[in-house]
Amino acid sequence: MRAEDPPRSISGARLLFSLDPAVSYLNHGSFGAVPIGVQRAQQRVRDEVDANPMRFFSKGLLDRIIHTRRHLAAFLGADPDGSALVPNATAGVSLVLQSLRLGPGDEVLLTDHAYGAVALAARRQCRRAGATARTVAVPLGAPDREVVSRLRNALRPGKTKLVIVDQLTSPTAKSFPVRAIAAATREHDIPMLVDAAHAPGMLPVDVSAIGADFWVGNLHKWAFAPRGTALLAVAPAWRRRIEPLVVSWEHDSGFPLSVESQGTMDYSPWLAAPAGLFTLRTLGVEAVRRHNAALAAYGQRLVGASLGLAPSDLPEPGAAEAAMRILPLPSGVATTQPEAHALRQQIADKLATEVAVNAWGGRGWLRLSAQIYNRPDEYDRLAEHLPALLHALQR
Ligand SMILES: Cc1ncc(COP(=O)(O)O)c(C=O)c1O
Repeated sequence: MRAEDPPRSISGARLLFSLDPAVSYLNHGSFGAVPIGVQRAQQRVRDEVDANPMRFFSKGLLDRIIHTRRHLAAFLGADPDGSALVPNATAGVSLVLQSLRLGPGDEVLLTDHAYGAVALAARRQCRRAGATARTVAVPLGAPDREVVSRLRNALRPGKTKLVIVDQLTSPTAKSFPVRAIAAATREHDIPMLVDAAHAPGMLPVDVSAIGADFWVGNLHKWAFAPRGTALLAVAPAWRRRIEPLVVSWEHDSGFPLSVESQGTMDYSPWLAAPAGLFTLRTLGVEAVRRHNAALAAYGQRLVGASLGLAPSDLPEPGAAEAAMRILPLPSGVATTQPEAHALRQQIADKLATEVAVNAWGGRGWLRLSAQIYNRPDEYDRLAEHLPALLHALQR
């Protein structure tokens, strides 16, 4: 196989999913896709609830949650007693922000690669407290050493109360050296939150080894869990200070049950999440990672070439396992977020292809994901038709 060849497909993998066969689904990164076997496992839990809600909620539910959390935490190298199941990364970030007790003059540091909703949450919490959310610019191609030094130089000990850094960013698919950044913030006793929304399943993760104060990762993206499954890991010093967003019956038990027990809600995604890990492990975690990373690189190269981009114009994610890659759109295209959304919709409607499009750093970027259900010809087809669609837009 030559370096530019696509990877060999994982035979039959597409059949594990209920995705619309008429659509090229090249955006696993946004909301994931749940394998049919995992959907079934979740439905079995829902059936159990509906057969006798009283029995489901009052007999053994907490033990089942704890058991599930132990299973998922072990996969991620997180301390199961210092981690909580939460619905998603968004909820985990708000939980941390709310527990910080920011005051006037404090600040929260983010990078200009942060996820939009995370930045909104930081700004709201800062506004309420009279604090400031400050953005640190990190050039797309900055090597790890530079990323660490930019963040280190931005710290203001005494003032900076939290640094939020992504493990793999959403608009730019850039991996950040979170372990080295955590070491730098620790030197100044400044807490750090890792937004690892994309990490579980995609990247090899050892949460405890990262050494951040807070780490939150979605299992419903790359670990095949049902939507609504994420893990928030909290360092020992912070566990007693975590305030649940919603107060429920386990409030006095403290973290993590106070966070996990949230009244009458649908616990079926969490209880079915181990079926997602089972799927991943059965296919082979390494084999899936190798396939996805190679296919994402193939897609980036091919679609990039169709837009006249040389390999040197294509950003490298900085992690060998990255299953999402971006490429720059022609100048003037999708330079604002509303334009980016409109272009994404056009690509979906006209080319029956789901991708992500983001405006970042004054220009538009196309983000391609690769998952085991994707085939090289889906990227070939996008490469064939995208230039004409963009050309028509520019006229
Ligand atoms: C980096 C990052 N953070 C947070 C989120 C939010 O994830 P969720 O919608 O599951 O809360 C996403 C979603 O794509 C993301 O990419």
